[in-house]
Amino acid sequence: MKTKFLVFADLHVDIMHDSVRRMEQILAAAKEKGAEYIIHLGDVMYPEADYVRRHAPQDFERRGEAWFLCERDGEKSAIRQMLKDSGLKVYGVLGNHDMDACDKSTACRYWNMPAPHYTFTEGGVRFIALDSQFIRTEDGDEDFAYCNYRHVPWQQLHFIPDEQLEWLEKTIFASEEPCVLLSHAALGDDQLCVQNRSRVWDIVRRGNENGRRVIAAFNGHNHADGVTMRCGVPFISINSASNLWMGETWRTTRFSQQISQDYPHIGCTAPYRDALYAVITITDEELAMEGVTSEYVGLSPQQVGLPRQMYCHEPVPMTRSRRFELRRK
Ligand SMILES: [Fe+2]
Repeated sequence: MKTKFLVFADLHVDIMHDSVRRMEQILAAAKEKGAEYIIHLGDVMYPEADYVRRHAPQDFERRGEAWFLCERDGEKSAIRQMLKDSGLKVYGVLGNHDMDACDKSTACRYWNMPAPHYTFTEGGVRFIALDSQFIRTEDGDEDFAYCNYRHVPWQQLHFIPDEQLEWLEKTIFASEEPCVLLSHAALGDDQLCVQNRSRVWDIVRRGNENGRRVIAAFNGHNHADGVTMRCGVPFISINSASNLWMGETWRTTRFSQQISQDYPHIGCTAPYRDALYAVITITDEELAMEGVTSEYVGLSPQQVGLPRQMYCHEPVPMTRSRRFELRRK
């Protein structure tokens, strides 16, 4: 087992003014570090207007319901082209904002994903991409689509349906390779997480009873760098490539009037000066994570008095380097 990839999350092209520059940094790092492929953990960007018009014309008017509506179409198509030109394979999971202006089938098509949940194998590792974007209702689990989750209480958000959990269990137990779980919402943390995450831990615990079938899990969404151990497995939160989302209450002006006007949601963030990402190397012996350190543009969340309890992990403008032993039991 040997594989090396770059992982990033939550670029949020719809919020930030300099996403193209950030993607340049990510791709330069992938090249410099010798990453064999790229994994993103969702909330990169929802499809540009032209794409929706061409591929899902019936959805086009519903685009106006997007939360971070911001006409960043030139930047989005530039970023897609950059990813394509890199020659690297790009795998991903769906984030909540990826369906802000479309449904899951359009989002999957946009990101070249075979389905909202799927698996792929690289370097002797089986990656399991999960779809954590479901709303639990009295009538069953409903797909995130057209920003429908926006006014739903958080207790109903981010569920993994029973059928997908059954599929996950079968996939893990049948896998000849050690497995890595990928999701947008956290499976390990207790905030901004998959609500029925204990079902996943139960599968991991049983799967790892006789040896180690699941070696790690990665999530985005929280814009946080941290690790929570569950059943002896590291559940790693990958920080956003661009910002900590603080919300309206904490809105500040950190950029020029023009930027603030063109990117109306940027004021709700504590932006990181440069792109964050991590390069992961997995061998039989260990999982090594090589992170990067940036800084906030303007005041830090701590300086503006953002309550610590809003987040599961202390906000930091970095992805830490870490090592986890994977020796067989
Ligand atoms: Fe998210």
